Formats: sequence, structure tokens, C-alpha cells
Amino acid sequence: MSYPRTRLRRMRRSEGLRRLVRETRLSRDDLVLPLFVVEGSRVREPVASLPGVLRFSVDALAREAKEVFDLGIPAVILFGVPDTKDARGSGADAAGGAVQRAVEALKSAEPDLVVATDVCLCEYTDHGHCGIVQGGEVANDPSLERLAATALSHARAGADVVAPSDMMDGRVGAIRSGLDAHGFQAVAILSYAAKYASAYYGPFREAAGSTPRFGDRRGYQMDPGNAREALREMRLDLEEGADALLVKPALPSLDVLAAARRAFEVPLAAYHVSGEYAMLKAAAERGWIDGERALDEALLAIKRAGADFILTYAAKEVAARLAP
Ligand code: PBG
Ligand code: ZN
Repeated sequence: MSYPRTRLRRMRRSEGLRRLVRETRLSRDDLVLPLFVVEGSRVREPVASLPGVLRFSVDALAREAKEVFDLGIPAVILFGVPDTKDARGSGADAAGGAVQRAVEALKSAEPDLVVATDVCLCEYTDHGHCGIVQGGEVANDPSLERLAATALSHARAGADVVAPSDMMDGRVGAIRSGLDAHGFQAVAILSYAAKYASAYYGPFREAAGSTPRFGDRRGYQMDPGNAREALREMRLDLEEGADALLVKPALPSLDVLAAARRAFEVPLAAYHVSGEYAMLKAAAERGWIDGERALDEALLAIKRAGADFILTYAAKEVAARLAP
């Protein structure tokens, strides 16, 4: 039966009807807030390229953890911004490092808040690459040991989830083996499995001080032209022991997210990355776009494409709006 008997507008006529037939909704349960951790004390400094985002010292995090948890956000993911860097990224797995202490502080302030950590070397290496550089190239296998050690140090501090974002081959397996060998079978791995070499990470690199000193990340992050390869990346990470998979950047990769939803039964995450957030904020600031609606629409589309949860710098403002 078709027009004029079938009229799809009938079920759109009022907010009540629309509420009844809405297929996807955003919930506070979907949100993960990224947090930048710096050295020092009493630091709460704004990040210029990410309006509304702050960098915190460890002592300032307890209050933030309470606020985040009280807003109904289930999880945070931590990024370290160290004072010193070297060739092997020694700071990444330092027991007394800012991220390691931040994990402890957050878990003791708010034990039910899920604490995930980004596992990568780029914030800690003086060259700014995500692995160990040998002969001008990012060497895969020597990087694995460093990444596994970093994940282990986060687990020792009490992280619930470790999230490798480096894109080295075999890192999920190396991290799983390292965790299991030390009794951390219960720590989950959220793998940034399909991570594209993207221009949308620009504001993050400013916030984290992780811009590569030479070259770019196209030798290890994925080519934006490839979708089938993303599914191979995800399948391999699952075989290596990933518990959940992440796709990023989010809006430019919705097709990949939807394909992953069809192909895999595992929990799927998407990262609405810094550039995606900054673009919305910049346009809203100029009055060129309704910032709140555009943000909700973006996050809803990410969920509709198949994400179970979303990493977003807007988690707090969205949660505050969704609060009962
Ligand atoms: C570190 C890392 C990056 C992001 C998450 N983890 C930057 C990069 O790969 O250059 C990007 C997050 C964002 O842009 O919000 N490997
Ligand atoms: Zn990195």
C-alpha cells in the first residue's frame, strides 16, 4: 500500500508521536569523557583549541571525578601530558607518572566511575611518534614492549580499561599477554582498531603536545580511503583479545562504524574527536549554527550508525542536558 494511503508524516505530527516511534536516543549511559592530566598542583587550565575543555593536575581530579559521576557519566578516559619527553617515551610507564597517579586518585575518589586510559607513546616521546623510532621509521615490534609496559603500569594503578591508540600491529596481543602474565586478567582492552590518519586530531595534539616533530602518522594510522581494511584491523584485534573496538574519527567514519556493527557482536565505541568538537564550537561561537542541536545530532548519528558508547569532549554538557 502506498501514497495516499501510506503517509509517513502521520507519525511525525506531534512530539508525543515522535517520542513513541524514535528509534535511537542519546543517554548519559553512552558517554565517556576524555580528561587531560598534567604535572603540578592545583592546575585547571583551559585548552585554547577546545572550548570548555580543561587540563587538570592530579590533585584537581577528585573534584572533577565527583562532578562527572554525579552527572551520570559512567566513564572517563585519561591522557597524560608530561613535562619531560625522551626517545623511548620513558614517562609512559613510569609508576609515579601523572596518569598512573590520576588513575589512583580517581578510583579512590569515585570507585564506581570507570577509568580507562589511553595507551600510546606519542605524548611521551621527544619525536612525537606513537612508537619507537629506528632509522627514521616507527619500528613496530620494539614498540610493542613499551606499549605493553605502559598498559601494565596503568593496570597496576587500578585502571579498569586500557585503550591502545598507537596502531602498531600486534599491540593488542602484546598488551593482553603482559596483563595476564601479571594477574590483570580482569582489565579490559578497548582497542582503537580503526583509527584513520586524520586532520581532525589537530586540537588534541595541541592539548596533549603530541604533534610529530618529523613526518606524519600515515605510516601506521589508516588511510581514509579504506573501509575493508578497517574490518581487517578490527577482526585482528578481536583475535588478539580486544574486548571492545573503537572507530575514529566518528562522523567521517560512520560507514565503517555501521559495517562494524553488522560484522561483529562486540561492544563498539566511536571517538567524536577534537577537530569534530572544535568545528562545532567555533561555528556556534560565531552564531553560524545552533551548537546544542548540532552536537546532539552528531552524537545521535554516531549512535544510529552503531556505536554503543561515544568518547566526547561534550560529555558533561550533554549529560547535564539529559539529566532527569
Ligand atoms: C594518541 C591519540 C590521539 C588521539 C587519541 N589518542 C592523537 C593522534 O593519534 O595523533 C586523538 C583524539 C582527538 O583528536 O580528540 N595516539
Ligand atoms: Zn599516539
